[in-house]
Amino acid sequence: MCGITGYLGGKDAYPVLVDGLKQLEYRGYDSAGVALVSDSGKLNVYKEKGKVSDLEDYIGDKDRSGHVGIAHTRWATHGEPCARNAHPHVSASGRFAIVHNGIIENYSVIKENLERKGYVFSSSTDTEALVQLIDYMSSRQESSDTVSILQAALREVVGAYAIALIDMEHPDCLYAARKSSPLVIGIGDGEFYLASDVNPVASYTEHVIFLEDEEIAQMCCGEPLRIVNLANDECRHEVTTVPKSLGKVQKGGFGHYMLKEIYEQPDCIRDCMRGRVNIEDKTVFMSAVHEHRDRLLSAGRFIIVACGTSWHAGLIGKQLFENLCQIPTEVAYASEFRYSNPVVGSRDVVFAISQSGETADTLAAVELARSKGAFVYGICNAVGSSIPRSTDTGSYIHVGPEIGVASTKAFTGQVTVLTMIALDLAREKHSIADSVYHEIVGELARIPYKMKSALRSDERIAALSGIFTYARNFIYLGRGYSYPVALEGALKLKEISYIHAEGYPAAEMKHGPIALIDEEMPVVIIATRNALYGKVLSNVQEIKARKGRVIAVVSEGDDVISRIADTVIEVPSSLECLDPLLSTIPLQLLAYHIAVCKGKDVDRPRNLAKSVTVE
Ligand code: M6R
Repeated sequence: MCGITGYLGGKDAYPVLVDGLKQLEYRGYDSAGVALVSDSGKLNVYKEKGKVSDLEDYIGDKDRSGHVGIAHTRWATHGEPCARNAHPHVSASGRFAIVHNGIIENYSVIKENLERKGYVFSSSTDTEALVQLIDYMSSRQESSDTVSILQAALREVVGAYAIALIDMEHPDCLYAARKSSPLVIGIGDGEFYLASDVNPVASYTEHVIFLEDEEIAQMCCGEPLRIVNLANDECRHEVTTVPKSLGKVQKGGFGHYMLKEIYEQPDCIRDCMRGRVNIEDKTVFMSAVHEHRDRLLSAGRFIIVACGTSWHAGLIGKQLFENLCQIPTEVAYASEFRYSNPVVGSRDVVFAISQSGETADTLAAVELARSKGAFVYGICNAVGSSIPRSTDTGSYIHVGPEIGVASTKAFTGQVTVLTMIALDLAREKHSIADSVYHEIVGELARIPYKMKSALRSDERIAALSGIFTYARNFIYLGRGYSYPVALEGALKLKEISYIHAEGYPAAEMKHGPIALIDEEMPVVIIATRNALYGKVLSNVQEIKARKGRVIAVVSEGDDVISRIADTVIEVPSSLECLDPLLSTIPLQLLAYHIAVCKGKDVDRPRNLAKSVTVE
């Protein structure tokens, strides 16, 4: 939530800052702003409601000069989205300008104290309380040293923050600090870049440092980077080299990132399996599994924690771990887990699944699980993000940056990684026959090709989507491995088309939701050929008997459900446990095209942000 950029060096800061903000817009896009130390030594602050492009239009040919600056794209927590609440916020004295990602939980106490001291606030944000507190601390210190002022202020703060700060008494410097919100520093030749994730930085330099909790960075012209913590200890950091493949992501000819990412899935899943699945001898090797084999195999149970789409992947993971490995597995929403006083101990293994690696609830669940002695295994996409850095081990899904707010390729990447972990463990545990193991691995290796053929339904789905723009509700049904796919399909539709959609296990329909079915109600049902096919067929008949409009996702060549359903979308046949990797694709496309038909902003749906870094 919220994206931060910062720059200090020989380049013009404005284009670097705005370019970075555009890459971080997935984190929030309800307002944006920039602060620049101009060539004439003045602090210029520009803010506008809306997207980064609205900010650019607003700035037009105003003074954009300067080699030092900070910028922000916002997802509102405290205070409505408007220019007044947009960042940067400037302190009462005009000395400090700040951008902030996170939540200052004790901001109202800080604000009241400062108001009693005469400070006047002009926004409804928690961030303004922080910049005024910094201002107040500066007035109480004899030295004008910004780092010690920041230390004093941040010691008073409860909550999460990643901040970038300009101090007009040191206009050739830039300051940054973090706690529980990510911040990356890029080190160039006589220049520094700051960003909430590595992508904007990687466009300019391969050398990065991930700031740790309660650390403050001082970046000054012609001086080396200095990092200290709140206790004023000097902190040493390894400089990490980030892959060149990171950096600016383009739409590559697609109308939206979401569609591009849906189409990337065959290649992404191939990348995800690269070096892990051996096609020749049909084996899987996950290095983290082998490194921690005994720890994993001796676990009393697995617990999967995640949010949103990653939680849906976790539900599939549970079935994989239980069916293939015979390991009892629970799946919890990270937000519930962290406050449920969970019974977790040293024999448990907790899997934390997160595309961004920054989701606040999942990160807190990881910390809680570790504090209770559990072994924590992260499954993430964003390289170097907070969750992979706080877990005992992990596997990246390697699907590349996902920009569309609606998660697509990350879901199939997560399911692929979970499948590979389950297969590797099952082999080590001898919980499935070798023949079954090789059969599943062989089929897994074919999934990218089959995904390509599943994508061929795109045109048909685009053509039929217009029919459903009338709908105010949708039901999604599936059984077994297809139940989480139904949940995921419903979530995709909700978040980008704003149509209410519910996912259910198909048999649960009779226990309530069937009352909703009439000729107006579209029911999407995943009815691929597997052990439960006959049961799903009965469910389709029950819906048709009540005049529901059935859109069925079926296996290629199905000639039974295709005669009953109103619309069928075929996907290639596969093994039951791998079906989700294919049946998800038409549901992603359906949600996408319905949203486009309704004229919605697919990549930036209202009220949402890609990384939910606040709870
Ligand atoms: O980055 P994470 O995987 O931890 O994010 C979890 C959810 O916020 C995320 O999956 C969200 O539900 C997506 N917008 C769904 O498309």
